[in-house]
Amino acid sequence: MNVSIIGAATTKFGELWDVSPRALAREVVFGALKDAGIEVRQIQALFVGNMLSGMLGGQEHLGAFFAEELGFTNAAAFKIEGACASGGLAIHTAVNGILSGQYETVAVLGVEKMTDHKPEDVATALMGAGSSQERAAGCTFPGLYAILARMHMQEFGTTEEDMAAVAVKNHYHASLNPNAQFHRPITIEAVLKSHKVADPLKLLDCSPISDGASALVLSVRRQASGVKIVASSVATDTLGLDQRASLTELQATKEAALRAYKQAGIEAKDIDVAEAHDCFTIAEILALEDLGFYIKGSAARAIQAGEVTLGKAKKLVVNSSGGLKGCGHPIGATGVKQVVELVAQLRGTAGARQVAGARMGLAHNVGGSGATAVVHILKR
Ligand code: COA
Repeated sequence: MNVSIIGAATTKFGELWDVSPRALAREVVFGALKDAGIEVRQIQALFVGNMLSGMLGGQEHLGAFFAEELGFTNAAAFKIEGACASGGLAIHTAVNGILSGQYETVAVLGVEKMTDHKPEDVATALMGAGSSQERAAGCTFPGLYAILARMHMQEFGTTEEDMAAVAVKNHYHASLNPNAQFHRPITIEAVLKSHKVADPLKLLDCSPISDGASALVLSVRRQASGVKIVASSVATDTLGLDQRASLTELQATKEAALRAYKQAGIEAKDIDVAEAHDCFTIAEILALEDLGFYIKGSAARAIQAGEVTLGKAKKLVVNSSGGLKGCGHPIGATGVKQVVELVAQLRGTAGARQVAGARMGLAHNVGGSGATAVVHILKR
């Protein structure tokens, strides 16, 4: 697959009340262009990952909106929406634009502004990613993932402590990331004592409401320090949980991962560093099993034992950025930020978060409660 990532940039994630979406976009797209050493006029197409700007901000037509803002005169521009997987889908669509021969060099922007709005409006807007039955029943995403957590606990004996260990690890990683929303390490006790959001999930089992943007420049051009995309795959499943055959796995993740490993000609064991979609702590446990890193029912204890923690892991490190849990989850930006983090890891520029000798990285981005899954594999 002849697609290289030649530029990458991200803003800090968090409550960015004094910054507009336009300013967030400028910071990261111009940052990624500078990183790539190219000019605005060399960008032939812009792919924007975003979910909520129409529902919360009244602004649709984001392709043209940001193309104008960024001065991409006459460039093709697209908005790509797939709930929390919007960023990953934007990358996938950009990759296909290059592989088709239509474009040589393109920009991908993931951007979301959530904290200016009332939490109940954000929760309602996020449920646009669920099924109509789930909305009619008054479900929220913490509630839907709580069902997945209960099923995993019942079938595999997974405990609230096991889930808390995911939050402890990812907040620790986030404490090493200057761009993360949270910088304070937390303890298992603090997670268990935090207020219940949707039993058994508590405040510290949840990713937060966040603002932020991330960008990439993809090209057929190579760079000496270049990172190549060796697989890009997407799979889907039913929108609603009630139609699924199993609630202890995300079928879309399994399918997207299988396709990606096949495209890259590798196996799960070849991955050194992964950004896995941990919108809730149970989601990382499911992801590590569905991506093939651990057999069903064994990921939770491995995470508790520190097997995927920076500084303790023998090989694979998961969510070195802090993940969605610690770094923050501005919906459309998340999937792009995952790849920005992997680029830093594979270039060897991740500083205190560096995974020694990282050569192969995997990004896993999920929309809704698993209706869309996107997997990218990157190689130095
Ligand atoms: N993790 C850690 N700390 C969090 C947090 C989180 N997820 N959410 C909020 N906080 C912190 C805030 O920074 C604040 O700290 P402070 O008092 O030191 O400033 C405190 O907890 C209270 O914040 P508040 O905004 O009042 O929390 P809330 O109760 O309104 O919202 C959640 C908490 C968990 C309900 C909200 O973050 C949420 O809905 N998360 C899920 C988002 C989601 O569904 N995304 C899509 C996934 S599919």
